[in-house]
Amino acid sequence: MSYAETEKLNQIVMGGAALSNAVCTVAELGIPDLINSGSPVTAESLARSIGAHQRSLYRVMRFLASYGIFKETANGQFDHTSLSEALRSDVEGSYRAGAQTWFRLFPTFGQLHHSIMTGEAGFIKEYGKPIFDFLGENPEMAPLFDAAMTSFHGYETQAMLDAYDFDGIKVLADVGGGIGSLIGAVLQSYPMMTGILFELGHVLGRAQASLTAKGLGDRCSFVEGNFFESIVSGADAYIFRHIIHDWTDEQCQQILGNCRKVIPDNGKLLIVECVVPTGNEPSVSKDYDMIMMISPGGIERTKKEYQELLEQSQFELTSITPTSTMVSVIEARPV
Ligand SMILES: C[S@@+](CC[C@H](N)C(=O)[O-])C[C@H]1O[C@@H](n2cnc3c(N)ncnc32)[C@H](O)[C@@H]1O
Repeated sequence: MSYAETEKLNQIVMGGAALSNAVCTVAELGIPDLINSGSPVTAESLARSIGAHQRSLYRVMRFLASYGIFKETANGQFDHTSLSEALRSDVEGSYRAGAQTWFRLFPTFGQLHHSIMTGEAGFIKEYGKPIFDFLGENPEMAPLFDAAMTSFHGYETQAMLDAYDFDGIKVLADVGGGIGSLIGAVLQSYPMMTGILFELGHVLGRAQASLTAKGLGDRCSFVEGNFFESIVSGADAYIFRHIIHDWTDEQCQQILGNCRKVIPDNGKLLIVECVVPTGNEPSVSKDYDMIMMISPGGIERTKKEYQELLEQSQFELTSITPTSTMVSVIEARPV
């Protein structure tokens, strides 16, 4: 083995873990909020603000700057880059909640071994229960997780609206719609449409508050439920964004089977997910697949896997519309 391989593996094994950990930790500490772009700050001043160990904080900032997260100026101060700016709490689409969520749930990453050996989510081994049960029982984590969904996926919404035509849909049900950022944006773009947000009870209140604040409260109904038991009726289209990738094939058949029971014969099923490409090329979908494996215990799927899953649930895939982001809109109709 050459020096080049050792160096590359060092970077992957040690640098990769350290980088993720460092980003999540500075986000948790609120460091990005302490720097205003164009007004760099010394590590000493940052350390004083949060009561941290100055030299350690400096080394973490220098490390992050070497990956383009913050930049160190000639006189040893730290300023923002576009990546570190995205970790501020007050920017549109802030990534802070996403990084903080991983800071709090970091031990999950240590359970990949368990997932590989058993096929079960590493999260269950670490925390003793599936992630969505854990969130329901941890009121301090649940709103952070909701916000993390906007950190991770908020940017996909406009790209989806640009790529996919929702014309003709009168009532759209967003199943597992979180705090409603997707249904809110669709309703804003299609003023004649009304929405139904179907969610677990503990999320629904936050969804209602968020859509009401946007002036959309009266165009959306909020229905509490568990998609493993039943799904709300009354919509002509059902959208599932980042729901199907959370679950195993058997669980997805249950969820889609419940959708099949209520969707009208001419209704549309829309699944917004990554479609894993074939071949060896890097793809964010393959990164996400690892997260799905360890955390909810789900799967990112290929086109063929979606086709099979839909067939098994009495749906037929009609189109896959790519967007400018990692997700596509997978459209299916009941058969
Ligand atoms: C990965 S998040 C996706 C949220 C949203 N669709 C988005 O794209 O931002 C999964 C959502 O499914 C909801 N969920 C989990 N289990 C559920 C169940 N059994 N019934 C209804 N919703 C559920 C969670 O509360 C969470 O908001």
